[in-house]
Amino acid sequence: MAATEQGSDELSLAGPNKNELENIEIELLLTGIHRLYGYDFRNYALSSIKRRIWHHVHAENLPSISALQEKVLHDRTCFERLIYSLSIPVTEMFRDPGLFLTFRQKVVPLLRTYPYIRIWHAGCSTGEEVYSMAILLQEEGLYEKARIYATDMNNRSLQQAKEGVYEISKMKQYTKNYLEAGGKHAFSKYYTAKYNSVIFQPDLRKNIIFAEHNLATDTSFNEFNVIFCRNVMIYFNDELRDHVHGLFCESLSRFGVLVLGAKESIHFTGYSDCYEPLDRVEKIYRKAK
Ligand SMILES: C[S@@+](CC[C@H](N)C(=O)[O-])C[C@H]1O[C@@H](n2cnc3c(N)ncnc32)[C@H](O)[C@@H]1O
Repeated sequence: MAATEQGSDELSLAGPNKNELENIEIELLLTGIHRLYGYDFRNYALSSIKRRIWHHVHAENLPSISALQEKVLHDRTCFERLIYSLSIPVTEMFRDPGLFLTFRQKVVPLLRTYPYIRIWHAGCSTGEEVYSMAILLQEEGLYEKARIYATDMNNRSLQQAKEGVYEISKMKQYTKNYLEAGGKHAFSKYYTAKYNSVIFQPDLRKNIIFAEHNLATDTSFNEFNVIFCRNVMIYFNDELRDHVHGLFCESLSRFGVLVLGAKESIHFTGYSDCYEPLDRVEKIYRKAK
């Protein structure tokens, strides 16, 4: 208690230290964004959001976080650039091939027993994960009875996802991933090359619905047999992570399957009791209650 009081005395005499000032500026920036644009980054993990914000301050050639706040609040295009840089859209097709192989082996047999299948890719970024799922379902003869909901808060990424156009230079890695994930054909069967790009077959998009959805602020919108949310919640703090797990638990059907990223886990969340592991290594969980 005494130390706190002394601390506050020091604060009033010497002013806040650099770290404290930085945290205040970040809080003001994120509050301003939330109030003006409705995007809520206030419960993102501080260390990573701090890094991204500073990166953006330098990219905009500004002297401070407060200067970024001024610009973001007065210039919507600056805000849109910031959203893109905060969203970290890194992804790839058949990312972590072992996961997709295990999904074929352990989840596909369950899905065969359903009359129709609804899958939600929450935080789908530019769509590579979603096209991977579409290919997998097509090869397993399940695509026709499936609806895939692909959502992200980042509209720019979603536009690219809808187009299904990717750099040709990435196909070598994606082909390798596809084969390791149990792919059954030549990967090139799924796309057409044009100059430095490839476009994925429009047939794969037939049952995919792309939509903007923010996990921090939007509610549940359907009931799903499978939810993929990979490499999204690593950027959230415990409170937001728990909030999103609540949303998923509410949105999954009985025995629905939740798939998390390699560095994520249902443990240490308030929802660990709601699931049993289908595959501990690949972070595939099945709703138990
Ligand atoms: C690293 S990418 C992961 C993409 C893909 N799931 C994967 O594992 O390859 C993270 C994505 O989460 C999205 N994201 C971050 N916060 C979000 C939120 N609150 N609501 C919806 N999407 C969010 C970002 O826009 C970004 O596209």
